[in-house]
Amino acid sequence: MSLSRTLILLLLIGLLVLRYIWWKPTAGGTNPDVLPTVLWHGMGDSCCVPLSLGAIMKLIVEETKGGYVRSMEIGGNPVIDWQSGFFIHPNEQVEYVCKQLLLDERLAKGYNAIGFSQGGQFLRAVAQRCPTPPMRTLVTLGGQHQGVFGLPMCLTLSNSACEYISRLLNSVAYSEMTQRNLVQATYWHDPIMENHYRLGSTFLADINNELYLNEFYIENLHKLKKFVMVKFLNDTIVQPKESQWFQFYTSGQDKVIQPLNESKVFQDLRLMKMEKEGKLVFLGVEGDHLAISKAWFIKNIVPLLLEK
Ligand SMILES: *[C@@H]1O[C@H](CO)[C@@H](O)[C@H](O)[C@H]1NC(C)=O
Ligand SMILES: *[C@@H]1O[C@H](CO)[C@@H](O)[C@H](O)[C@H]1NC(C)=O
Repeated sequence: MSLSRTLILLLLIGLLVLRYIWWKPTAGGTNPDVLPTVLWHGMGDSCCVPLSLGAIMKLIVEETKGGYVRSMEIGGNPVIDWQSGFFIHPNEQVEYVCKQLLLDERLAKGYNAIGFSQGGQFLRAVAQRCPTPPMRTLVTLGGQHQGVFGLPMCLTLSNSACEYISRLLNSVAYSEMTQRNLVQATYWHDPIMENHYRLGSTFLADINNELYLNEFYIENLHKLKKFVMVKFLNDTIVQPKESQWFQFYTSGQDKVIQPLNESKVFQDLRLMKMEKEGKLVFLGVEGDHLAISKAWFIKNIVPLLLEK
C-alpha cells in the first residue's frame, strides 16, 4: 500500500473513532419551549466537526437555553457524510433527510432549518418535497438558489482534482453520467445554454420548477413562515454571488444580473406572493463565503430561532 493510501486509511479510521467519542449529530433538548433546529452542512464539511458545525450546534444550544439541535449526517457516518457533499445525488440525500426528520419524534411539531452553502438549496428541497414534519423558518447561509456558473469547489480541492471537475462541468455538466455522479453538476446553471440546463439539471431545474410547474412544491414552500437568505457580500466562491439571494444572470450571457422580480423563477415558484406576505428576508453580511462571526449569528439568526 502506498504511503498516501495508508494515510487516508488512518484518517478514515480516526474519523470513525472521533465520531463515537466526540461528534454527535444531536445536541441540547432540555428546553421544550423552543422549536428544534435542523442544520445541513456544506460541501467539504460534515455534520458536527467541533471546529465547524459542532461549534454552531453548541452555540445554538447555549443561546436557546437547551433547544434541540439536529445536524444532518448523511448516511449515518462521518465518511459517507463527507463524501455526500460531492458524490451522492441531492435527490437521494433529500430523501434520506426527509426520512430521518420523519423518524425524529422531537421534530414532530415542526422545526427551523439552517442550511450552509449547498445545504441551503438542499433544505429548500426538503421544504418543497416533504411537508411533514413542518419546516417553519428556513435560513440559507450562502445557498445557491439559482445554481452556480463557476467553480466554488476549487479552493478546497487539490489542483488536479479541481482541474478534472472543472473540465467535467464546462464540457459535460449535463450528461447523464456527470449528473449522476457529481453533486455540483446538479446545480450547475449555464446561462448561455439555458435550455441545456433546464433539460439536463436533475436537481435544481426540478426544485425551481423550470421544466414544469409543480404545484405541490409551491404550496409547500409557501407554508414557510419565513425564508431568510443570507448573502456574503465579498464571496469569492459562489459565482454569481447573487444566487444567494435567488438571483442569476439574464439568459444568454454571464455579466448582467437579472432583478429577482423579473426572473422566471420568481413566477414559477410564485415568490411574489411570499414577498407580499413579508416572508422573504434578504440579509447581507460583509465577508467571504460562510465567514460568519459568532456575534453576527447571535444578533441576526438566533432571534429567528426564538420566534414564537
Ligand atoms: C464587501 O462588499 C461590500 C459590498 O460590495 C463593499 O461595500 C465592502 O467594501 C466589501 N468589503 C471588503 C472588505 O472588501
Ligand atoms: C422590481 O422591483 C424594483 C424595485 O425593487 C422595481 O423598481 C421594479 O419596477 C420591479 N419590476 C417589476 C417587473 O415588477
